[in-house]
Amino acid sequence: MSQDVYPVPIEWAEKARVDKAAYDAMVRASLEDADAFWLDQARRLDWITPPTKANESSFAEEDFAIRWFADGELNVSANCLDRHLATRADQVAIIWEPDDPAAEPRRITYAELHAEVCRFANVLTAQGVKKGDRVTVYLPMIPEAAVALLACARIGAVHSVVFGGFSPEALAGRITDCDSRIVITADEGRRGGKTVPLKANVDKAAAHTPCLKSVIVVKATGGAVTMSEGRDIWYHEAAASVPATCDPTPMSAEDPLFLLYTSGSTGKPKGVLHTSGGYLLWAAMTFETVFDYHQGQVYWCAADIGWVTGHSYIVYGPLANGGTSLMYEGVPNWPDASRVWQVVDRHQVEIVYLAPTALRSLMKEGDHLVTATSRKSLKLLGTVGEPINPEAWRWYHDVVGEGRCPIVDTWWQTETGGHMITPLPGAHALKPGSATAPFFGVEPYLLDPEGKRLEGKAEGNLVIARSWPGQMRTVWGDHDRFFQTYFTTYPGYYTTGDGARRDEDGYWWITGRVDDVINVSGHRMGTAEVESALVLHEDVAEAAVVGMPHDVKGQGIYAYVTLNAGVEPSDALRKTLVQWVRQEIGPIATPDAIQFAPGLPKTRSGKIMRRILRKIAEGDTSAAALGDTSTLAEPAVVEDLVANRVG
Ligand code: WT7
Repeated sequence: MSQDVYPVPIEWAEKARVDKAAYDAMVRASLEDADAFWLDQARRLDWITPPTKANESSFAEEDFAIRWFADGELNVSANCLDRHLATRADQVAIIWEPDDPAAEPRRITYAELHAEVCRFANVLTAQGVKKGDRVTVYLPMIPEAAVALLACARIGAVHSVVFGGFSPEALAGRITDCDSRIVITADEGRRGGKTVPLKANVDKAAAHTPCLKSVIVVKATGGAVTMSEGRDIWYHEAAASVPATCDPTPMSAEDPLFLLYTSGSTGKPKGVLHTSGGYLLWAAMTFETVFDYHQGQVYWCAADIGWVTGHSYIVYGPLANGGTSLMYEGVPNWPDASRVWQVVDRHQVEIVYLAPTALRSLMKEGDHLVTATSRKSLKLLGTVGEPINPEAWRWYHDVVGEGRCPIVDTWWQTETGGHMITPLPGAHALKPGSATAPFFGVEPYLLDPEGKRLEGKAEGNLVIARSWPGQMRTVWGDHDRFFQTYFTTYPGYYTTGDGARRDEDGYWWITGRVDDVINVSGHRMGTAEVESALVLHEDVAEAAVVGMPHDVKGQGIYAYVTLNAGVEPSDALRKTLVQWVRQEIGPIATPDAIQFAPGLPKTRSGKIMRRILRKIAEGDTSAAALGDTSTLAEPAVVEDLVANRVG
């Protein structure tokens, strides 16, 4: 093996749920005798009717379908709550750490969570919500967010969580797309000492969403809100008059559980649909195996519930395993960059799961903020969302974990439901920056642009050759788009949109997106979305957006903007456009650089040559990097772009 390798610590090799021999045997079984393997694994869940069939999926156009455990029946909330009551009713299910470090944390037991979920489910039913209805959830990181999700699952409603950082415009688009009659929100959210006007945002969104009929408002901060008569109700008032029991609705394994909107390379965000049985099994199994979770451990995933990471690894994975999941209201670096480690000490967290962008922002504030805390409770560290640079990896391992804790660098996507390529801490020696090895049942390949499989040490397009239980089932309202987006580039494969490399030891390294999606602070952003927002501004004629390297965020947003004739470029206009995009999409889409460009490099057929724009944004303006510009309609525009690069 190549030099920079961290062997499996002896105690992990001895005690972990899965060691190297078990990993190898289970990988083989999951691929060679897949249906038997998955029917056996399905027994992790509590079924009303156990499935007799496992995988009935096909990636081929003629019989295209993603289907798992189709004759099984279960209820997801019963799997996360009711089945634990006999053995661990008084165990803490959710520890809530508030934004304000001086405020009291909350500890919610399985019995309490069960009662609250039943109440919330009854409130939803009283509002007319039925099985299959879409419920939009626009909440801050408060326990009611987990309660709302489980309440939907209890009555078979399909939740669609919209991240609290999204603008009213973005929220409205997501409400309308899935024809959601109801929104669950809070008066305000709290993050890093600031408040977020969630209810006011819903009010603004409601002006563009005729389908929206009712709004349930959770009192979180007590801030002032306007309640609209006949449409808005307070959750605490409605909950006071409903019982704390509610029978879980039996669901087919293939009944929808949730929708989550995510950015692609074209068009508006798509509603990724996950169903009940396969998704829950995948979340539960990956959670227990990858984090080597044992009963009683305090586990903390610092993601927001607005992203799939929050769904699978704050709510469904941990609770399906009867675990204790810490939920944090705030941001990692507030009041200062030691907060994360203080929270670890306060709650004796054993497993922590963070994004590389958070690590990089904490790392640059200096080691003293880490070493001032104990962190003795930590046993395992995880990362997710973007490639981790080896420097941040080593800092996490050596400084945060004091060399004692393995790191699981988990590669996956909203579409995959849960972990796909990741080390298992008892099975794999680690290489900083490598996502390491496929999880059970995952069959990845690297393809060249012609679709030929690359063997051995190679780099190419990352595809998956067969379905796995956690795979998304469709794009809401557009099954054809689902097929076109993921299964036509390389027929017979699921195309991930990522590039990857396999090294001489067979380790997998994710190199980043190969499409027009960029990864800003671990959040996925379609460049087309930012472009659409920019061209909505009256002064903008045309815009092209690409990623640029960014020390903390991984990638930043670099926008080339062509103004309408007669409009003069200025710093003031630049600021206006930055504000404009924030207002259209949300702060996560804030452009880091805007370059006014009299023209964009286009082919004679009018196609923007993004390859050139990417290179200029990266600051790589050598002739070799820019490549052949002779096919451009106006080669001179490139010189202007290079001369006026921002940064
Ligand atoms: C994209 C998916 C995974 C849940 C949160 C993001 C990138 C994700 C890794 C990793 C390198 C990663 C990929 C992927 N990504 N994890 N460990 N190493 N890249 O979910 O918003 O659907 O984004 O995030 O580019 O395609 P998402």
